[in-house]
Amino acid sequence: MSTTFTIDTSTSRANPVPAPMKRLTVPAILSRKGKEPLVMLTAYTARMAQLLDPHCDILLVGDSLGQVIYGFPSTLQVTLDMMCAHGAAVVRGSYHSVVVIDMPFGSYEQSPEHAFSSASRVLAQTGAAAVKLEGGEAMAPTVAFLSRRGIPVMGHIGLTPQAVNALGGYGARGRSHAEHAKIVADARAIAEAGAFAIVAEGIVEPLARTVTSEVSCPVIGIGASAGCDGQVLVTEDMLGLFERTPRFVKRFDDMAGRISAAVETYAREVRSRAFPAADQTYAPKD
Ligand code: KIV
Repeated sequence: MSTTFTIDTSTSRANPVPAPMKRLTVPAILSRKGKEPLVMLTAYTARMAQLLDPHCDILLVGDSLGQVIYGFPSTLQVTLDMMCAHGAAVVRGSYHSVVVIDMPFGSYEQSPEHAFSSASRVLAQTGAAAVKLEGGEAMAPTVAFLSRRGIPVMGHIGLTPQAVNALGGYGARGRSHAEHAKIVADARAIAEAGAFAIVAEGIVEPLARTVTSEVSCPVIGIGASAGCDGQVLVTEDMLGLFERTPRFVKRFDDMAGRISAAVETYAREVRSRAFPAADQTYAPKD
């Protein structure tokens, strides 16, 4: 069942109207190749989008929401309906960044036509500007099919989490000569097919530098060194919401610790009746 999401500007939690600035565009992202690094983070909810948007160039509604929001063991269980619902929320919560939505596993691999039908539904229901899909040479015809029909595509190469069963895990890629050559060929193929940017995940530094210099679109790294045109992380990882994160993640905060401390204080105050106090209590009118 599909749902149509509309932009809600009727509540105080919605976007400021009029928007304080114009939203970045896909061509603007493409033109940043080799210039100032692109800043990208994942967002799945309107409120998180509002907080990240002023600082980012791209907000990615990643299918990592399967693990982060829904507690799935991998991204394979994520559906198009989930991506549409979270994508629409992120568009509502942002006015500056380009919003890119991940195509979930099973929604695009079968054929370019199937990919078009899924991707057009995602863009129509969310208001986002672009989709992201995983894969290299094998997906190049699909990237070309979508790009030529007005759907901007961000590629994703190297460690592609939807292929975890085929790859045998989430280890770094590109250590062998054969894997190095294959990943360069993947990047070239989807760049030539029209991708406006490519996420390179979990690849060794020399390979990341080669890929970045070989393609004409921006390469955005995650676990792929500072040699890329930009960086992306899963927001909850960089905020320190999880105790365990991959080696390439820098924890810029300890939100898990801060939430635990706040909730411990709340629980103590409820139990001791210190909360709610007079300030949080309605008094009758005289
Ligand atoms: O799903 C996701 O969050 C991603 C990023 C890790 C790039 O694809």
